[in-house]
Amino acid sequence: MKNKIETLQQKIAEAHLGGGQQRVDSQHKKGKLTARERLHFLLDEGSFEEIGMLVTHRTNDFGMDNQLILGDGVITGYGTIAGRLVYVFSQDFTVFGGSLSETHAEKICKIMDLAMQNGAPLIGLNDSGGARIQEGVRSLGGYADIFYRNVRASGVVPQISLVMGPCAGGAVYSPAITDFTIMVEETSYMFVTGPNVVKTVTNETVTAEELGGAMTHAVKSGVTHLTAENDLQAIELLKKLISYIPQNCEEKPAKLSFSLMDEYRPELADIVPDNSQLPYDMRAVVQGVVDPDSFLEIHPDFAENIIVGFARLGGRSIGIVGNQPMNLAGVLDVNSSRKGARFVRFCDCFNIPLLVLVDVPGFLPGTDQEWNGIITNGAKLLYAFSEATVPRVSLITRKAYGGAYDVMNSKHIGADVNYAWPTAEIAVMGAKGASEIIFRKEISAADDPEALLKEKEQEYQEKFAHPYRAASRGFIDEVILPVDTRRKLLRAFAMLENKVDHLPRKKHGNIPL
Ligand code: HXC
Repeated sequence: MKNKIETLQQKIAEAHLGGGQQRVDSQHKKGKLTARERLHFLLDEGSFEEIGMLVTHRTNDFGMDNQLILGDGVITGYGTIAGRLVYVFSQDFTVFGGSLSETHAEKICKIMDLAMQNGAPLIGLNDSGGARIQEGVRSLGGYADIFYRNVRASGVVPQISLVMGPCAGGAVYSPAITDFTIMVEETSYMFVTGPNVVKTVTNETVTAEELGGAMTHAVKSGVTHLTAENDLQAIELLKKLISYIPQNCEEKPAKLSFSLMDEYRPELADIVPDNSQLPYDMRAVVQGVVDPDSFLEIHPDFAENIIVGFARLGGRSIGIVGNQPMNLAGVLDVNSSRKGARFVRFCDCFNIPLLVLVDVPGFLPGTDQEWNGIITNGAKLLYAFSEATVPRVSLITRKAYGGAYDVMNSKHIGADVNYAWPTAEIAVMGAKGASEIIFRKEISAADDPEALLKEKEQEYQEKFAHPYRAASRGFIDEVILPVDTRRKLLRAFAMLENKVDHLPRKKHGNIPL
């Protein structure tokens, strides 16, 4: 018995050492934590239970039978974050570059299945050179087994990817399918084909960082939702993110304790400038209405003309989507529509009510937008809102023009409560453009076309640059004062807490992808 226990202790020590002390040091030299250190900081102390610690690969080719390392380059198991169950895998770059073998994939699939069956989030810490080259198609099959489960789990349990090292080739598609990706600056990169292949095929010279580093994906492609300066910060971000989200699609997010106080917010009165052509920061509106320090912006550096993120209102999680007049005047374009739609669908999957802040002059015109599919992409946002059955509240702070009025969670596409500030302007288009079209003949025949245009603009402005026509039709439920907004929202979301709404019976819809 004593011998057997000693053997086990030896094996555990061996597994904990992964690819050896030297390689652990090499990980630290790169500014990265090891796979086990990451789990240590991620999970509540003492909560981690490992599954498959003694697994080794089954490859004989290329002398691999002499290189059996316990765990085979990935640590898998379950534990808790702030007392809540999560399933995790953490790839160990010190073992065959964290590459994915058949058995490595089987370990990940095992915990994915457990996460699905037990209704708890799946967290992947990715740090891998991709498919285990020595295993050929078996490792490709392993990836596909994971992708398949990612898709099956989508909308059932939250899935979050931390990319903390290389993530290349087809390996990128697992993080891409998960709900959120967080990348670590300077130590992680993601691309389908690396700089060498790029050079060969397109003759472009590009570094790995430029091609697929954290900032590239945060700003240009939108592939990553958040970035962090180092592993620890990434882990802290993940913990914050997960605090807004329920365990699975059958649950509601946790509600923090909250008691009503003075909910008037005088600072909201001065945000929208008197001149409606001037920008302002929609984040100030967000900060003014949500619980203090509760806003976590998602995708902050991508498509900045729309803001998305989580916050709490009266202790409840909400998702926020808001046009950002500070950037491109808050227009909807291809990227902002994609960004908004993905976020709306996430919130709807996991029972997180939506607050939509509207100040939108319309869709961005131009060949670039039309040729890149603003029609299909704009339709994504329209589809996502229309399909969402969670409580949905809108507030029009200023402009709500054209098709964008419809798209931004209007009453017509199923919003539950629609508010407007007195500064709201709701019309088919801006006064100048509208006058030029509908009074074109009169204006061109006038003695002083300029003066007549001004006059007609003024007339159009007076007719539509306010929320009262929309309110008279019931498209706006109430015109409210900015200072009163937080109180109104608290009541509206409390009123909607038990909302039940079902989509018509179908296999699934066909969102314009
Ligand atoms: C087996 C691998 C490996 C891999 C790295 N290693 N990647 N072993 N399969 N895919 C091993 C290395 O041989 C080395 O072993 C150790 O991991 C560390 O790698 P280094 O190259 O020394 O590290 P570094 O200099 O930091 O470079 C990291 C790297 C590089 C950029 C990731 O290793 C690399 O380019 N690897 C190959 C990447 C790749 O092409 N993967 C396949 C992508 S295609 P020793 O014993 O020397 O320490 C793919 C298809 C998936 O993944 C398809 C899914 C549908």
